[in-house]
Amino acid sequence: MKSRSQRGHTTSGVPASPARRTLLTGALASGAGLVLASAARAGGGDPAITEVKDWNKVLGTGVDDRPYGNPSPHEKNVIRRNVPWLTADPKSSVNFTPLHELDGIITPNGLCFERHHSGVADVDPAQQRHMVNGLVDTPLVFTMEDIKRFPRTNRIYFLECAANTGMEWRGAQLNGCQYTHGMVHCVMYTGVSLRHILEEAGIKTNARWLLAEGADAAAMTRSIPLDKALDDCLVAFKMNGEALRPEQGYPLRLVVPGWEGNMWVKWLRRLELGDKPWQQREETSKYTDLLENGKARRFTWVMDVKSVITSPSPQAPVRHGRGRMVITGLAWSGNGKIKRVDVTVDGGRNWRTARLDGPSLNKALHRFYVDLDWDGSELLVQSRAMDEEGFVQPTKEALRAARGENSIYHNNGIQTWQVKTDGTVENVEIS
Ligand code: MTE
Ligand code: CO
Repeated sequence: MKSRSQRGHTTSGVPASPARRTLLTGALASGAGLVLASAARAGGGDPAITEVKDWNKVLGTGVDDRPYGNPSPHEKNVIRRNVPWLTADPKSSVNFTPLHELDGIITPNGLCFERHHSGVADVDPAQQRHMVNGLVDTPLVFTMEDIKRFPRTNRIYFLECAANTGMEWRGAQLNGCQYTHGMVHCVMYTGVSLRHILEEAGIKTNARWLLAEGADAAAMTRSIPLDKALDDCLVAFKMNGEALRPEQGYPLRLVVPGWEGNMWVKWLRRLELGDKPWQQREETSKYTDLLENGKARRFTWVMDVKSVITSPSPQAPVRHGRGRMVITGLAWSGNGKIKRVDVTVDGGRNWRTARLDGPSLNKALHRFYVDLDWDGSELLVQSRAMDEEGFVQPTKEALRAARGENSIYHNNGIQTWQVKTDGTVENVEIS
């Protein structure tokens, strides 16, 4: 195996192993042919069965106890996490979605990764104004109430930061899909088509580009081709049915389906039409890809077809021993829907087609499963996604051959997890 060494592993959030060992021994002792290793036979004096629990004896808390509900305290490990050494200051930093703990395709609002360049802006919606200016017939200013009077639409989209998986360009690095792939989330947005807002102001015939500007201290600004702006972009005020969270741009953010997260300007306050791009910092010195020949790719907006196995993975080891095992993961593409995901458990010698389950939506996350009978031997698991445009997720070697090793952004290479015989899982690279 041509494994690159793992540098700078972060172990926070990786569960300890004793519980797994106990279960594994129990499963092996109970003999061959038992598929569900941890399914106990009835009887045997298990206190979890014979002793009446408190929750079965006393009244629980009342309906007014939690006016806004939170997850069970038993789920306290299901949180966003950051990697402190990645950034100098949490106000210009990122934390990661705990993909290994989630299922389905929707990210709960409180778990959507956050990326801020100047911290979370604390915007009062009553004070916030939204300006449309530049190459328009009539410059306009909207209040939030004005925006909510345009016809609304609901759409589910993934948002992926262009830097997602960026730390893995030069080899396996971070031990957990939360850290390697957790700069992605997928929610249902409620908002207004950007086309409606721009047409209200009247688009001049020479307008070709849109500048979107945020109201945070970073005043995040990006140029977007007008064709994209008029195609499927939204200004959104709700996520998963409730108001945007402050972290996600409350009260208004731009939604740029399938394109790199940096363009999804949060705390949106201004849209300007122009005839050429503005060459902002975030589209010149940042969010460009330096190639081996010293030239840089720029305006690489589309997030390429990609997938990752979320369980088993380093933070989600196999605790149940051999037998029935659910392999699951996520696939997505900025080009549209996912057509197929193939999974290998032997490092790419044999591939099987995974079962896509749940809605298959344009530019949204797709959930896939492989139901495996694990014989307890070491596995090298990988997933490879294909989208409806015919794009296939490349190996990391193929990606490096095309782009060199200088890149940070747009790493959609195939990820490998090594599942060891004791069920622990490690980030390795084999192709
Ligand atoms: N918008 C503003 N105003 N300020 C920012 O720092 N960060 C961008 C983008 N929009 C940013 C912003 C980046 S780099 C990404 S990846 C996404 O927001 C992250 O969105 P999220 O925090 O909802 O995950
Ligand atoms: Co980003």
